[in-house]
Amino acid sequence: MFHMAWFLTTGFGAYGWNGQWSGNVPKDVGNPQLFVDLATSLERAGFDYMMLEDSSVLPDVFEGTPRQALETGVIRFDPMPLVPLLAGATKKLGIVATASTSFYPPFLAARLMTTLDHLTQGRVGINLVTSSPHAAAQNYGYDEHFEHDLRYQMADEWVDAVTALWDGWEEGALTFDEQAGVFADHTKVHRADFDGEFYKTRGPLNVPPGPQRHPVICQAGGSPAGMEFGARHADTIVAQVRTTEAAKAYRDDISARMIANGRDPRDVKVLFLYQPVLADTDAEAQAKADRMDAAAAANLDGALAGMSYVSGIDFSKYDLDAPIEDLTGKSNGHQSSVDEFARTSKGKTLRETLALRTTVGTRHIGSPDSVASQMEEMMQECGGDGFLVALPVTRKNITEVCDGLAPALRRRGLIRDSYDGATFRENLLAF
Ligand SMILES: Cc1cc2nc3c(=O)[nH]c(=O)nc-3n(C[C@H](O)[C@H](O)[C@H](O)COP(=O)(O)O)c2cc1C
Repeated sequence: MFHMAWFLTTGFGAYGWNGQWSGNVPKDVGNPQLFVDLATSLERAGFDYMMLEDSSVLPDVFEGTPRQALETGVIRFDPMPLVPLLAGATKKLGIVATASTSFYPPFLAARLMTTLDHLTQGRVGINLVTSSPHAAAQNYGYDEHFEHDLRYQMADEWVDAVTALWDGWEEGALTFDEQAGVFADHTKVHRADFDGEFYKTRGPLNVPPGPQRHPVICQAGGSPAGMEFGARHADTIVAQVRTTEAAKAYRDDISARMIANGRDPRDVKVLFLYQPVLADTDAEAQAKADRMDAAAAANLDGALAGMSYVSGIDFSKYDLDAPIEDLTGKSNGHQSSVDEFARTSKGKTLRETLALRTTVGTRHIGSPDSVASQMEEMMQECGGDGFLVALPVTRKNITEVCDGLAPALRRRGLIRDSYDGATFRENLLAF
């Protein structure tokens, strides 16, 4: 069996506001119902978790203005308040919200996540990112963002600080001793007194631990520093790879790093970013994929804006029909994505390179049954733990995945048909 999760690629935002299947977005912007519907559908389908991407900028690197982002609807509400609404509509689904270690003070994050662990009854997770845009750093009062590897060094210490706060309450500290009139045993609640190179926090937390004690930690960075961070701290890692070979290499790399850090590789579930193209028949799915590719190739503005966002480099300045300079090591953004771009662009023009990058992650095309068998084959070959579906949040996509693909996977015994654990972590680690 493998695990399934769904990634909201622009978090709690708007998905294709004027698309054919995007519903009534002009009326529904900011309305949580679509995301609640997604959560209940994912639970019906037996998914482990729903993951909310986040960032705190209105992207404006491309052309130096937020024109492209605003015209196409790249907005993001804060994902944290959505978490209890999703939990209220579900019983077992894990809910992972993104937070930036670079900007969340450890005390604020530790208290927030513990509170959410209570509100979700042990079903919350946190996707730890370090953020990349300088604009994000400027929104939080810095002149520019910290250098890439330093961000991960800081993130390491940030996790130690947050963990020290989470561990301040010993097991059994909550006594509820009615006879003695004692709610909690003060000798079992300790200050963190954490004093690191980057962070300092006193503690103790003024909230008792939630059902999971430590919320599930998710991680996504694909650079060596990012993978090391994931191997040290994560319960689940999400990775962007395009082939089965790359998936296998990624899983093997994480396993080796975990062993080097004294962890059991089975204690982390590595899920691969996944974009299935589903239709009633294989031929219809292929025709649909061809139409999607043509639309993506025609959307040059979107592709250039996307690369500008992840790299922090304004791609509107480059000639589309000239070879692009080698960008290896030239970006303070998503290092692994920029390095992959640099590798694929060798000997090609910018236009040619973009044409090769119309999808993210791995893609299979076909009817639910044939996609299910391609997924089975890939997981057997790469030794990964599952897939992270990354499709625009439309009710059509939700139905295709949750009522078409998931039942096809279940018929083959590939995904769960019940949640036996009490918490998100227990279900995640069940197999
Ligand atoms: C599946 C996936 C989800 C991600 N989610 C976020 C996110 O919510 N917010 C964010 O700022 N970055 C996100 N990222 C970017 C990563 O945190 C990281 O910056 C990127 O993968 C590049 O890796 P590196 O920073 O280690 O070079 C995500 C990446 C992937 C592959």
